[in-house]
Order: sequence, then C-alpha cells, then structure tokens
Amino acid sequence: MKAEDVKKIAVIGAGDMGHGITAAFLMGGFNVVMRDIEQEYVDKGVAGIKNSFGRFKDRGRMTEEAYSDALSRLSTAVDLEEAVKDADFVIEAIPENLKLKQTVFADLDKFAPDHAVLATNTSNISVTDIASATKRADRVIGYHFFNPAVLMKLVEVIKGDESSDESVQVGYDLAEKIGKVPVTVQKDSPGFIYNRVNEPTLALLSRILEEGSPTPEEFDAAFKPIMPMAPFELMDYVGIDIAVHGLDYFAEVVSKDYQPSAALKSYLEAGNLGKKTGQGFYDWSGGRPQIDLSKATSEYDPNHLIALQVNEATKLLEEGVAETPDQIDLAMANGGGAPIGPFALAEGIGYQTLLEKLEEVHKKFPVDIFKATKTLKEKAAEA
Ligand SMILES: NC(=O)c1ccc[n+]([C@@H]2O[C@H](COP(=O)([O-])OP(=O)(O)OC[C@H]3O[C@@H](n4cnc5c(N)ncnc54)[C@H](O)[C@@H]3O)[C@@H](O)[C@H]2O)c1
Repeated sequence: MKAEDVKKIAVIGAGDMGHGITAAFLMGGFNVVMRDIEQEYVDKGVAGIKNSFGRFKDRGRMTEEAYSDALSRLSTAVDLEEAVKDADFVIEAIPENLKLKQTVFADLDKFAPDHAVLATNTSNISVTDIASATKRADRVIGYHFFNPAVLMKLVEVIKGDESSDESVQVGYDLAEKIGKVPVTVQKDSPGFIYNRVNEPTLALLSRILEEGSPTPEEFDAAFKPIMPMAPFELMDYVGIDIAVHGLDYFAEVVSKDYQPSAALKSYLEAGNLGKKTGQGFYDWSGGRPQIDLSKATSEYDPNHLIALQVNEATKLLEEGVAETPDQIDLAMANGGGAPIGPFALAEGIGYQTLLEKLEEVHKKFPVDIFKATKTLKEKAAEA
C-alpha cells in the first residue's frame, strides 16, 4: 500500500493527543473517524477539535469554508469494529500502558482490513512489544506526535523490529501530506530521538536540585535571556510528574544514572506538580513566574545543556537510531521550542568548547550518562 491509497484514517482515543491528531488529519484533507470508549469522551474530543479550529478561524488561519469542510469529514464512534472496519491507516492514542495497548492492537488486527497499517502514538513503550499482539507486525509502526498535535510539526515515524519499509514509508508520506515534518527513527529505542536527546538535561536538573545549589531561580536566570522558557520553568510548565515518570522510565531501560533524585520526587509527594497545581519550583497562582535575572548563577550557561544534547545525539548515531546528524537536527528543531538542532548549534559553538563544557558537568556529577562519547571526542579533535 502507498500513502495515495489511504482514504480513511481511524484515530483510537479522543484525549489530548487523539483529538489533536484527528484535527491535523482533518486539516490535511482526510476523512477521519475518531473513537473513544464512552460517548462523553468522544464529545470532549470533538469539542477540542472545534475549539482549535475556532481559534484558527479567529486568527484568519482558516476560512469559514475550510472550517465546515474539515468538520464534515469527521465521524465518531464508540464501537471499535465500526470505527476501523474500512480504515486504511489507524492511529492509536490511548493511555500509555502496554497491556491496554496490546489488547487494543489485538482487536485492531481482528477488525481492521488486512492492508491497513496500524500506528501507535506511544511516547515510550516499545513498538515491537505492541506489534507482538497482532499477526501483522510488519504493518505496525510507531507514530509519535508532539503536544499539541494540531500545531507541532514533528512526527517521529518509528521502525519496530518487524515493521516493513513500506509501512514506515506510508506513515512518513502521510505525515508529509498533512504538512508535518516526519523523521524516521531507524530503531525502536527508548525515547526515540526528541525525548532521548533532552533526557540528560532533566537528569542534570534533578541532580542540581539534590545539591541544593544553584536554586531553580538562580539556574533559570542564567538561561532566561536566551530561552522562551528556562529549564526549571519548563519542567513546571509540562508537569513535574511527567519529568519524574520520564526519568523513572529511562532509569529502568537506559541507565540507573537517570534515577530521579529524592529532592525532585519530594515535589511529587507534596502534590506540587507545577503549573497545573499552581505550585512547583515556582508559584503559578498569579500566572507565569517572574524570574529575577539579577540572581543568575555563573556556574552554568546554555553551552552546558547544548553539550549534553550534542553528546546524547551522537549516541543515537553510534547506536544506529538515526541515520544522519541532519535527521536529528530536523527532529530537534521541530519537536519543541528551539529553532535549530544540536549539531547545527555545535558547528557554531565549536565541538572543543562543548567537550570542555560536558567535562565540567561530568566532573561535578561523575556518572556515565554525562561522559563524552567517542564521536564527540573525535569531532572535538578534528576541530
Ligand atoms: N500528552 C502528551 O504530551 C503526549 C505526547 C506524545 C505522545 N503521547 C502518548 O499518546 C497517548 C495518549 O496520550 P494522551 O495524553 O492523549 O492521553 P489522554 O488520557 O488525554 O487520552 C487517552 C484517551 O484514550 C481513551 N481510551 C482509553 N482506552 C481506550 C480504548 N480502548 N479505545 C479508545 N479510547 C480509549 C481515554 O478515554 C482517553 O480519552 C499515550 O500513549 C501517550 O504516552 C502523549
């Protein structure tokens, strides 16, 4: 099958990601059926789509005709069989739980047409493990969107151990057709590209918190002038619970060095999860926190974090998860706030400088995950 043959998309789950992905495919001109387990969840998803489209309309990014046309191509279902029986491409966006995803994939395998490709929007679970619940592992791929999916450009298209090149290509071409920026992830590997490259930064923040110095505000003040959101502020914004779960997961499957510190976990235990509870590292009750720039630490600067990113990115090349530095840069520049990727930044800063910065971090926290890779050392020596 080719992307041109895809006429109908089914999205399973109408939550934050499911409704955003549905909206993205509707805007791309596709017929989409969105399914959730209860009508009230379906309705909430539809309201979310209307809300996004309404905002596009208000800002002049969507005409009245485009609005009605997109919504006319949306259908909904509570019954799974009805949702997928004539779908060519199915995207699952249900909660992050292997058993649940496997149960749903076994049903998708039963009810979706034989030719249909089944894609999972999992953030962390192995695509290969999910695919094992089906008899069509060659037609199962990872399809990782970023939140909010209607706006964010990056889609990581992940090759599970059994995924065929043809299935990966269908996912890739479809993402391009709807105006996203797909990046193929060659190996089913923890955190894929975007989250993996960012995880060492979270590990560093967790350790700095444990040390007690610099404080989150002193640290952030050194970054705020050049970042739309400073690192601790961003963790508060996304949710400290999400950060702790990510670190727990990386500690389990990548390295124990990722274990979240007691100091970081104490926020979780106190129920201070950041913006959504009104209190995290900062008080959010009155809106975005005011960071006092005069408190900036001189111990850390942006190059320390870029060094961590570049180092982790070289691991992806060494492990064959990504094919080229450009692919990693493309993913990093489209999955979040940074306009350019780590390798492009490194070209400007110099690999030698970044190696020195990384060594400073490693000296403070001598754990393996902060150790320079062979590739980084070679690039620094070449420079
Ligand atoms: N939220 C993010 O930032 C983000 C980003 C990328 C990927 N993801 C991944 O996307 C997936 C969904 O996350 P979310 O944030 O949208 O979760 P969510 O809790 O907002 O939505 C999940 C939805 O799935 C529904 N659901 C549960 N079982 C179902 C079933 N059997 N069939 C159909 N629907 C079912 C729930 O009722 C709920 O509406 C997870 O795997 C998550 O890891 C999330």
